[in-house]
Amino acid sequence: MSEGAGGLVLGRLGPEGRDEGARLIHAALRAWYGQHLNQPERFGAAWEPFRIFPEEYAALDPGGALTARDARTGQLVGLCFYHPRPSHFSVGIVATAPEAGGRGVARAMVEAVLALADAADLPVRLVSSLMNLDSFSLYTRLGFVPGAIFQDLQFPEGAGLPPAAVGEGSLRAAEAGDLEELAALERELTGLERGQDLAFLLGNASGCWGCLVLRAPGGELVGYLGCFQSGETRMLGPGLMRDEGAALALLGAQLSAPGWGRAVFLVPSRSAGLVAALYGAGARNVELHVAQVRGRGREVGGVVIPTFLPESG
Ligand SMILES: CC(C)(COP(=O)(O)OP(=O)(O)OC[C@H]1O[C@@H](n2cnc3c(N)ncnc32)[C@H](O)[C@@H]1OP(=O)(O)O)[C@@H](O)C(=O)NCCC(=O)NCCS
Repeated sequence: MSEGAGGLVLGRLGPEGRDEGARLIHAALRAWYGQHLNQPERFGAAWEPFRIFPEEYAALDPGGALTARDARTGQLVGLCFYHPRPSHFSVGIVATAPEAGGRGVARAMVEAVLALADAADLPVRLVSSLMNLDSFSLYTRLGFVPGAIFQDLQFPEGAGLPPAAVGEGSLRAAEAGDLEELAALERELTGLERGQDLAFLLGNASGCWGCLVLRAPGGELVGYLGCFQSGETRMLGPGLMRDEGAALALLGAQLSAPGWGRAVFLVPSRSAGLVAALYGAGARNVELHVAQVRGRGREVGGVVIPTFLPESG
């Protein structure tokens, strides 16, 4: 623990703090989207579903949740998840208690992650909402540079779905033996080392995860798409495909599975053909996100489908 400026004590979230952390994430999102976007109901009334973040992240990156507490009262006022990888660090969810906003809480936590990344001489990556001027400002003031834009898309009730046709390839659930090829695809197209995340995804220790792989007729891996389900929460991603056709096939297959039709998913805005096909099938934009990098970054190839669980790309 360390006491920083502004009467904050930085520490780490232990198992006993997971409910407190889930309550904080829920309260922060609910307050911010209610106040700024008039969408107080967007994240639901219950905080319990938000337990998945501290729980899944404790399993993926033990100790990777920074806390900020009020030095006087001990109240949890901030939470920031991060993910150290051999090629980079990722910053995940950053949340400040609504009553502590604008006091530098988020800045103090993100600066602590940046210091760890600097010590390891690694770039830092994140995906942030383009509809949230506070987080956009927070990150760009700390030296992050915005890059690819992503559209959060959803098929409204009864709006149809993208075609589930796979073309000439073969699609199946990923198996443990696919791990090396998935990691190699990631390395080739994005330059990132995400073997830890892919092993976590395929290992599926919590029973919440799934992953589809698509192969060309010759057997070459052309893409994968992960998914997460817990209670009513369903998310697509992470995913990576060689081209837009592979992305459409994998998204179509996952969205056509029973119960998955209304899952929100992110696609790169510059994948214009993919976006047009999804619009044509009835998808609607629900939010915009942007990838940001502090330090070395390279143009990524293929089609990246980011997600918030795990947000380590
Ligand atoms: C986004 C969020 C984490 C910010 O937390 P916070 O503790 O209030 O932020 P801080 O006070 O540390 O820092 C905000 C920074 O943005 C700056 N800022 C805010 N609005 C700005 C604007 N319009 N233009 C320029 N800078 C701006 C502030 O000046 C401050 O920078 P500084 O420290 O250099 O002065 C908080 O609003 C939150 O929890 N939101 C809901 C959850 C969420 O959306 N999280 C984001 C990613 S998952």
